[in-house]
Amino acid sequence: MSVRPVLRMGDVRLLDVAERVNYEDRDALHSLLIDMRDTMQALNGAGLAAPQIGVGLRVVIFGVPPLRQAQGKPDQEEKNGRYADAASVPETVLINPVITPLEDEKIEDWEGCLSVPGLTGLVPRYHAIRYQGFDENGEVIDRTVSGFHARVVQHECDHLDGILYPMRIRDMRNFGFREVLFPDSRALDE
Ligand code: NI
Repeated sequence: MSVRPVLRMGDVRLLDVAERVNYEDRDALHSLLIDMRDTMQALNGAGLAAPQIGVGLRVVIFGVPPLRQAQGKPDQEEKNGRYADAASVPETVLINPVITPLEDEKIEDWEGCLSVPGLTGLVPRYHAIRYQGFDENGEVIDRTVSGFHARVVQHECDHLDGILYPMRIRDMRNFGFREVLFPDSRALDE
């Protein structure tokens, strides 16, 4: 295990625009991905971007194993709206991503972030997107997704452009501590 410290909001490195991966140093990329997976799993995250562990490269990982959904309580899943289709997010390594919105409409839902621990906010995101990029072997990834899957991808890719979810909240009254807003919910941070 190589769990790395996750930078928290206020660290200026989270505001940088990350650089594209050129695949010249495969060993470094492999090591980075091991650390990112270990860190995300240790913190029970749904996703992680390389800049969150201080690496300024356009690399994100995300995924929610089906087990996670089974552990949730159905009534809270409905109330919170975050877990209903959480299990449909495959474990993914996404490098040099490009996102194309497929409709103008944005949907608001609650998000959390490993770099903003303890807090949650209501964030507008495109409901449906196409995302393209590459996996760790340079193979093309090209998917059309919606809902929670689309939200996680948009959240993670924002990290590559120095954007944290609180910057996108429309009404700051919908931003606060998770344990106050949702006393019974379980964390699923990105
Ligand atoms: Ni995040």
